[in-house]
Amino acid sequence: MPKIKQRRFDEMRKLENVFEWTDYNSSNPFPKGTWNKKIFKNDNPIVLELACGKAEYSVGLGKLYPNKNFVGVDIKGNRMWVGATKAKSQGMNNLRFLRAYIDHLDQFFCENEVSEIWVLFSDPYINKERKRLTSPKFLELYRKIAKRGISINLKTDSDLLYEFTHEVIEEENLEIYRDIKDVYEECPDDPQLSIQTYYEKMHLKNGKKIKFISFGL
Ligand SMILES: C[S@@+](CC[C@H](N)C(=O)[O-])C[C@H]1O[C@@H](n2cnc3c(N)ncnc32)[C@H](O)[C@@H]1O
Repeated sequence: MPKIKQRRFDEMRKLENVFEWTDYNSSNPFPKGTWNKKIFKNDNPIVLELACGKAEYSVGLGKLYPNKNFVGVDIKGNRMWVGATKAKSQGMNNLRFLRAYIDHLDQFFCENEVSEIWVLFSDPYINKERKRLTSPKFLELYRKIAKRGISINLKTDSDLLYEFTHEVIEEENLEIYRDIKDVYEECPDDPQLSIQTYYEKMHLKNGKKIKFISFGL
């Protein structure tokens, strides 16, 4: 492993805003249901950024909405280190990180614990629909931990993922809250949508159009 990666992994273990929980057979389960009371120590709503990478969205939204709590979730520690150290150095008390597979979210959050979900530039998985974070399998998982009617917010460069998400919404008869085919053409000054992630910047450089869809679960 490259030295810088190893150093980041070592540092991650010491960061108080990071929970690393990749051992699912542990006899010591994650204390789900305690995010408000024990971790954030307030009653503010909990918002998840899934596939957070370097967590630009959690940092950006966390500043826009100081009365909401944010949790960035990803399995890649090297990327998460960037967001976690930034949040720490900026003294952000409303942001935490969970290094885990999204597939196991119900081991970390209990029923009704989550109030909003953001998915930014997650992989479209050309041949593996079940791995897409807006697939029926994942929506079923989110229902186990989310309050009723919460918004799932997807921002993507991928036509495949955007169209697939539309199909799932239609099949499941879900309500669309907002649907934007070209974010920078239609609403360039939207404070939530103009936060840019590492992958978004790459796609913009390559001339891709950025799409956004928000729907109720
Ligand atoms: C293309 S990157 C996007 C990262 C970031 N959102 C951005 O826009 O820069 C996709 C991320 O999703 C994460 N990811 C995809 N599926 C996952 C899963 N099932 N569990 C945890 N992380 C996942 C990967 O580790 C990776 O960091």
